[in-house]
Amino acid sequence: MLLDVQNLKIDFETHAGRVDAVHDLSFSIDRGEAVGIVGESGSGKSQSVLALMGLLAGNARVSGSAKLASAQAGEPSIELVGAKPRVLRRVRGARIAMIFQDPMTALNPHLKISTQMIELLRTHRGMGRREAMKAAIEMMEAVRIPEAARRIKYYPHQFSGGMRQRVMIAMALSCEPELLIADEPTTALDVTVQDEILDVIAELRERTNTALLLITHDLGVVAGQCSRALVMRAGDLVEHGSIDKVFNAPEAEYTRDLLAAIPRLEG
Ligand SMILES: Nc1ncnc2c1ncn2[C@@H]1O[C@H](COP(=O)(O)OP(=O)(O)OP(=O)(O)O)[C@@H](O)[C@H]1O
Ligand SMILES: [Mg+2]
Repeated sequence: MLLDVQNLKIDFETHAGRVDAVHDLSFSIDRGEAVGIVGESGSGKSQSVLALMGLLAGNARVSGSAKLASAQAGEPSIELVGAKPRVLRRVRGARIAMIFQDPMTALNPHLKISTQMIELLRTHRGMGRREAMKAAIEMMEAVRIPEAARRIKYYPHQFSGGMRQRVMIAMALSCEPELLIADEPTTALDVTVQDEILDVIAELRERTNTALLLITHDLGVVAGQCSRALVMRAGDLVEHGSIDKVFNAPEAEYTRDLLAAIPRLEG
């Protein structure tokens, strides 16, 4: 098991009182496995994964447990909930990487992509400058950016939206993380680009055995990419099971509603 989340609870202290965002979330993910999280807006999907990365807003309170298996066999797992910033910094980027709906949140607009990628590879993988540049270009090619060696010198705004998303995936996967968290990575893109991006992620995962935690509104995407799905509603985990079970024998009323809302593929 790579990640074991038990009884995760998140609430926020606000001027208007307490907001209970996530009530009691438990799930696990194995090495190399892909798990989807679906659910309506505000159901707690993003905050749940941000909690794993130690990236919640300052007014958040988290309890429960999220244990990340140690990188070396035989060593104890790492508790992410309540971990020291020093511990989380070492996990983030290197062992757990995250891609967001809006790539600009992850890219520095003032720095060339090459500068950002080289920095990442030097910090997390201890590469020298020249080796990092070579690895960065290879990564850009892997996410199918044409003329990667030239375009790596671009600034983020010089790429189209879809290309920027690829750059972010290249950056996230360049450190060969054990877990990739993708929060609505394709919602902002049109359908053909969306499919291409998902293909790129699947291809790279296959090569590196990276586990995937994929947040999306689209149950079809989950069925295509994941072996298990979690369905959240208003801070509760209402359904959890294999794709086959969730699609063919859903337990929750809410899952049945979600399924009824997507166009049915016969056969
Ligand atoms: N800093 C904050 N202070 C107060 N409440 C917050 C804060 N951040 C998030 N929330 C609340 O937490 C709840 C869960 O939010 P979350 O971002 O996880 O939703 P989501 O499932 O990712 O939705 P979407 O599909 O729209 O992205 C929401 O009710 C949101 O308003
Ligand atoms: Mg969200």
